[in-house]
Amino acid sequence: MSSFGRSYTPTAKALHWTMAALIVVAAIIGIYGAVFLHYGVDDAQTALKIQVITLHKNIATTTLFLIALRIVWRLTHQPPELKGMSPVMVKAAHAGHAVLYVLMVLVPVSGWANSSAAGYPIPVAGLFQIPHLVEPNKALTPTLSALHEYLAYALLVIVAGHIAAALKHRFIDKDDVLASMLPGK
Ligand code: HEM
Repeated sequence: MSSFGRSYTPTAKALHWTMAALIVVAAIIGIYGAVFLHYGVDDAQTALKIQVITLHKNIATTTLFLIALRIVWRLTHQPPELKGMSPVMVKAAHAGHAVLYVLMVLVPVSGWANSSAAGYPIPVAGLFQIPHLVEPNKALTPTLSALHEYLAYALLVIVAGHIAAALKHRFIDKDDVLASMLPGK
């Protein structure tokens, strides 16, 4: 059995699990709003779509602040060393984590740019609004909407791989990699 050594800090764990929950919930609501609800079908569906996308934005914009905090935390705190893993697996883990960080920035930023180009408000947790990232320009919205969609689905694929890797550590390698990110010791 390989050993992962010490655990992540309580702050790193809190950021990890809060962001995981927000990203999954935001993605489910985003898919529901974009794929299953359409403007112009009838007034009720249009109103519901606006409510659902507004909820999506209120939840997802919070990840912009959390990812900024998380990057600062990651750069100032050494994570536990990956002990007992082959150099190739360590490289693969680091590359996967780097892609996760990049997508955790690009997905909300592309959503922010898309709603900005459409000229819609960008609410954060029902508390306040953030300014438009780009000048309202409806001509840009098909491209930015598609970009947000592709990046969001890419993030979900990498998240699925991340979960599969965590479960492999727990049930196949039987090491303490998953435990090091769980609450408690
Ligand atoms: C954690 C961050 C986010 C995730 C995981 C996420 C995920 C998604 C997903 C999966 C969709 C459905 C895409 C489709 O099938 O067309 C979507 C749609 C959408 N998202 Fe996000 N999103 C995030 C952040 C944001 C932010 C910050 C905004 C704006 C402030 C935003 C605005 C939108 C809008 C307006 C749509 C609907 C697009 C349409 O109806 O074509 N998203 N999002």
